[in-house]
Amino acid sequence: MTFKKKDLLDMESLSAKEIALILDTAESLKEVSRRAIKKVPTLRGKTVVHFFYEASTRTRISFEIAAKRLSADTVSLSKSASSIVKGETLADTAKNLQAMNPDAIIVRHSAAGAPHMLARLVESSVINAGDGMHAHPTQALLDMMTIREKKGRLQGLNVAIIGDIAHSRVARSNTVGLTKMGARVTLAGPATMIPQGVEVLGAPVTHNIQEAIQEADVIIMLRIQKERQQAFLFSSEREYAQCYGLGLEAMARAKPDVLIMHPGPLNRGVEIAPEVADGPYSVILDQVTNGVAVRMAVLLLLLGGSR
Ligand code: CP
Repeated sequence: MTFKKKDLLDMESLSAKEIALILDTAESLKEVSRRAIKKVPTLRGKTVVHFFYEASTRTRISFEIAAKRLSADTVSLSKSASSIVKGETLADTAKNLQAMNPDAIIVRHSAAGAPHMLARLVESSVINAGDGMHAHPTQALLDMMTIREKKGRLQGLNVAIIGDIAHSRVARSNTVGLTKMGARVTLAGPATMIPQGVEVLGAPVTHNIQEAIQEADVIIMLRIQKERQQAFLFSSEREYAQCYGLGLEAMARAKPDVLIMHPGPLNRGVEIAPEVADGPYSVILDQVTNGVAVRMAVLLLLLGGSR
């Protein structure tokens, strides 16, 4: 199967076959990162621009590492170092980037839909590295890769996504992607953090965290996104940790082979206890490792194919 897309903007625009192709490609590329010389010449001569309007550690570094391991030339720009601080619009920024003819632009933006607008304005491939509360497709892909690697499948698994669903682009992209791949997703959290109508994504909602934990093969804990919350959605971090956090007590009721995941960064002691984040069921750092492989796969399929 060939991958004929120009951009990767969200999970909605990927079919189950395309998701499987990205995961298979990522699996085969993973060994490059274990070599003494961690480089293949596949994207030699290609130019990749990393344009991050929002803070990032994992996504930004892993995209840069991915591009470099494929021998692409990389350029990085952050909001504070760009002419956006002088008032330049995203549309003008896009036209100017296009004038330099990069092969791919990887963009993270606080506004939902910004990567989609950019994709309409430039001929380069655009990859969404997280837009507002909307989508984070490569995070969903690396989460799916990690689950498939550890469980051997996605089909039929119960995946509980727990926490601040309302502000989470990770929850949205994972729900859409995992559901397409045949997993059963349950969204769980306090009523103030579950948006109305979110069931249209194909996942039932529960406020009963214990029930969600007990039935899950995989638990994805979400960060409380204080920077996006307009009002106080919980009384105190201590109370949130007691009612909705994943600690050792809650883990005692989980399945013995459960996987614990978190996209990062962690609020240790709030949505997840340090003993759980660093414990034997946690695959949080495997997610980060797989982030490089998934981003190599996405770059390779978008830039190395014959579209
Ligand atoms: N998971 C994730 O997007 O992390 P960063 O914000 O550090 O990129």
